Amino acid sequence: MNSMKIGVVGCGYWGAKHIRSLLELGVCDVVACDSDASTLANARRAYPGIATAGSLQELLEADVAGVIVATPISSHFDVARQCLISGKDVLVEKPLTMNLDQAEALVEIAERRRAVLMVGHTFLYHPAVEAVLNLITSGKLGDIFHVDTARLNLGLFQPDTNVLWDLAPHDLSILLYLLGDGPVSISARGGAHVDPRVHDNVYIDLVFPGSTTAHVHVSWLEPRKIRRVTVIGAHRIVVYDDVSPIDKVWVYDKGIAIESEPADPDRHHLSYRHGDTTILHTAPDEPLQVEQRHFVQCIKERQRPKTDGFAGLQIVQLLDCAQQSLDAGGDRVDVGELVVPPDPHLGSGLEQIVALRLARAAHAASRENLRRGAEGKQT
Ligand SMILES: NC(=O)c1ccc[n+]([C@@H]2O[C@H](COP(=O)([O-])OP(=O)(O)OC[C@H]3O[C@@H](n4cnc5c(N)ncnc54)[C@H](O)[C@@H]3O)[C@@H](O)[C@H]2O)c1
Repeated sequence: MNSMKIGVVGCGYWGAKHIRSLLELGVCDVVACDSDASTLANARRAYPGIATAGSLQELLEADVAGVIVATPISSHFDVARQCLISGKDVLVEKPLTMNLDQAEALVEIAERRRAVLMVGHTFLYHPAVEAVLNLITSGKLGDIFHVDTARLNLGLFQPDTNVLWDLAPHDLSILLYLLGDGPVSISARGGAHVDPRVHDNVYIDLVFPGSTTAHVHVSWLEPRKIRRVTVIGAHRIVVYDDVSPIDKVWVYDKGIAIESEPADPDRHHLSYRHGDTTILHTAPDEPLQVEQRHFVQCIKERQRPKTDGFAGLQIVQLLDCAQQSLDAGGDRVDVGELVVPPDPHLGSGLEQIVALRLARAAHAASRENLRRGAEGKQT
């Protein structure tokens, strides 16, 4: 018996992993909830130590301190909102919500209530991503030219979203974390091959301040599971292969430089450097468990999580831009200002989020007025 209870809403594929990992973590009791009775019965059979609740209301009355929301994306907003309003701290799976309005509203509720709102950007709790970040910040890679990511496998098709919103949150959150900045512009192209209403293969191009570029490929149509991040620096190239069971981070002392001919400075040639390849040791910690430990710590110490609601909102802002581009056949979309993560005190981002909501509402109202004016002229 632990002093803290954590609820898990949604006991499907990922929720079951949350339950397993929480039990292994051993710092809280688990109350599982699923609207599907047979899924809940399966969870009870697999993990006899847990308590169960047949409805969200029942879970919220079960004295849980925090709730992990692992339901399909279309229900994140409603479930998380009810939890926050009931005074619970919340960890919502990625992406935070289905759209910007919902993300802003959720962050505002959390800020007003000084509640912990965390988003499951799991890879930011991965020791391998931390190792890549250390290589970048130590300057060992030199200036970053380009980052290429691939997150591909066969399915799983989600009933309520496309591959962009399902898989790209991971790559976009890794990119912001590694590069320490948001992109200036985004363009996205893709195809809806299996179901013509749902994009199942998407390529995203991002331009960052300076000359760094990035490319993200997400797909539900690849026969093999591929999870790869390649960071190309002026001095070294690093490949993080998450599918590799042990050796995940490879550092290549390879590169290409343009050198001018000493005899004739106007003439140049390319010089290829083929140095050593090093495999970095990374701790075998399970990212999901590191994330859960952080959630529990934030609840206890009333801290803003590393991947808080603002971090979730930033990714929804980028997904929204990428979706606009996808809908427009790949047009470049300017990202504009991303929200800025506030200081660690819960509630300190309230002014920022209120100002953002008001500005977006005013912008939407003026566009609507323009549209009505144009319609009026036509009739
Ligand atoms: N962080 C990661 O690496 C990662 C990996 C996979 C999935 N996910 C996320 O986890 C979430 C769930 O994905 P999944 O693949 O487990 O889906 P799933 O369909 O396997 O499971 C969802 C479960 O939620 C239940 N459910 C739906 N609405 C509910 C409600 N209102 N109240 C209670 N239960 C409800 C369903 O009955 C189902 O059992 C998604 O947001 C997904 O993006 C995250």
